[in-house]
Amino acid sequence: MRLDIITLFPNMLSSFFEESILKRAQNKQLVDVHFHDLHDYSQNSYGSVDDYAYGGGAGMVIGIEPVALCIDDLKKERAYDEIIYTAPDGEMLTQSTSNRLSMMQNIMILCGHYKGIDERIREHFITMELSIGDYVLTGGELAAAVISDSVIRLIPGVLSDETSALSDSFQNNLISPPVYTRPVEFRGWRVPDVLLSGNHAKIDQWRYDRSVERTQQRRPHLLDLE
Ligand code: ADE
Repeated sequence: MRLDIITLFPNMLSSFFEESILKRAQNKQLVDVHFHDLHDYSQNSYGSVDDYAYGGGAGMVIGIEPVALCIDDLKKERAYDEIIYTAPDGEMLTQSTSNRLSMMQNIMILCGHYKGIDERIREHFITMELSIGDYVLTGGELAAAVISDSVIRLIPGVLSDETSALSDSFQNNLISPPVYTRPVEFRGWRVPDVLLSGNHAKIDQWRYDRSVERTQQRRPHLLDLE
């Protein structure tokens, strides 16, 4: 997968991609991440990319020209499966969206900004708008990092034990069951006996029951999904 991220703050994002599983995914050449600083596409000598809002009001707005030039440049090189804009009023990111995105070849993410961007960008360039929750961040960089992380770890080969992505919470619309490791007893708190029984049919049943129980308690709406 190739991932192009357009941002006003590339430094905010770059270190995030230099660690752990995301780093390994790039080293294995399963994902190729590129950052594009919107300031590089500024149309004036100050290097600014925002301007006053038509109609007045407080706050500046990111203009359409630098964004259009940047997106056009990238689209000249390859076709994009999705051009995503991060915004609190976008569609809520879910595991099934991440699954779908993880199978794509080329994805572009335009980080939103608290100042807002010219609406024509959203109308004419963006194919998908994603939110990571009903709260407002100062910019879309954290949202882009969250989306990228949840997608990249699902690309086949990224996780060393491929089944571990399949048993994640939210795959199959169920929350994962509790897990335990040694010691078997700590301050009198014991690991459930069934997990020590060696009976795999019973263990699978116990894990499934705990998943359903947790989902009912914590995310009941997931049980109504297809
Ligand atoms: N930008 C600001 N807040 C956001 C959110 N909750 N999700 C995605 N992008 C955002």
